[in-house]
Amino acid sequence: MHAHNPSARAQRRWRATLWSIVAIIVLAIALPSISYVMAQTSGAYGGQRDFTEDRATNPRSDMWRDAREGSGGYTTQTGPYITNTMISNVGENWRQIRTGPLVTYGGWALVVVLALISLFAVVKGRIRIEGGRSGMTVERWKAYERFLHWFTALSFVVLAITGLSLLFGRYVLIPLFGHSGFATYAQFAYNVHNALGLFFSVAVLLMIVLWIRHNIPNKTDLQWFRQGGGIIGNKHPSAGKVNGGEKVWFWLGVVVLGLTVIISGFILLFPNMGFQTREIMAWSQVVHAVAALVWIALFFGHAYIGTIGTEGAFEGMARGRVDTNWAKQHHDLWYEEIVAKGEKPVPEDELRRQKEAPPVRVEGQTGH
Ligand code: HEM
Repeated sequence: MHAHNPSARAQRRWRATLWSIVAIIVLAIALPSISYVMAQTSGAYGGQRDFTEDRATNPRSDMWRDAREGSGGYTTQTGPYITNTMISNVGENWRQIRTGPLVTYGGWALVVVLALISLFAVVKGRIRIEGGRSGMTVERWKAYERFLHWFTALSFVVLAITGLSLLFGRYVLIPLFGHSGFATYAQFAYNVHNALGLFFSVAVLLMIVLWIRHNIPNKTDLQWFRQGGGIIGNKHPSAGKVNGGEKVWFWLGVVVLGLTVIISGFILLFPNMGFQTREIMAWSQVVHAVAALVWIALFFGHAYIGTIGTEGAFEGMARGRVDTNWAKQHHDLWYEEIVAKGEKPVPEDELRRQKEAPPVRVEGQTGH
């Protein structure tokens, strides 16, 4: 176990946290499974219709089948790609993807990732600050960076909850709230999702612009991955301000998946830009949902590592300062660099004193 045994109280609190997570995971697995089975048995998943009976009772079924398979005809409705199309299959094909593999595999992927993270948490435990805290702190993230991060994080969580509600609501929420209860909530979730998505997009783009300079890959990252990032195994690989794992989160999560979600989201939100056919709209929805699901799965990992997974990381993003021992353990090259640049570590007591009594004006300064 760990070299530094925390006090019995801290251990109890840690154990309680772990059990709460395990309880959440068990619920997270149980609820979708129950609703999935309910949806399967009630036929909510659609499934293929048997046309043999139709053919016997409806001699025109062959004509309709031809129309569905794309035989030409004449329609009074005109518009891009729909003129003289008797029956468009796009909507039905999209519905089958959405209510079939998207919901099934997407739902299970999230549940499995949560279960794996919990298993990892139980097996590995919290990564502690080696040698304990030094009591000295250095600045890690500036106030505007923290504001941007938490605005993005909070809106991400709201967008994830509302988005998942729209995707899985039929299976998970209708059994809980009933049809009309869900309809009211879904309308609300839809509006919140659409409005917040705009602000979130701006925040993500800003985050990319502001933090790209910390995330340029280099040789140190390769070394970091080779040594398991200090997460797998017990080594402490060197890292600059941002380590290899964080760079993966930045490039794969924020840049690639973020831009995919933002672009597909805009296509869906503004459907009259002139190029949107039914196919483009249907595919944008599938791409938006798949990218968002993968992003949420990665986000679970990021949020775990940034909170209970690593002692001392959260305070860096919460109040802007980290313990110097944390800095040396996780970002040694960055620590050396800022100290060389003249950053003076400030004791915790001093910070507390400053917070209680803001510094008084130095005598001799004029007020004008
Ligand atoms: C509520 C959930 C979240 C928590 C608890 C959390 C926590 C943290 C913490 C503690 C750090 C600082 C790590 C360090 O000092 O090295 C951090 C950094 C970061 N977070 Fe989050 N975060 C959350 C959500 C998000 C979201 C939703 C995004 C993006 C959409 C995001 C993007 C980032 C980025 C880009 C960094 C900087 C590291 C890098 O450049 O890769 N975070 N987060």
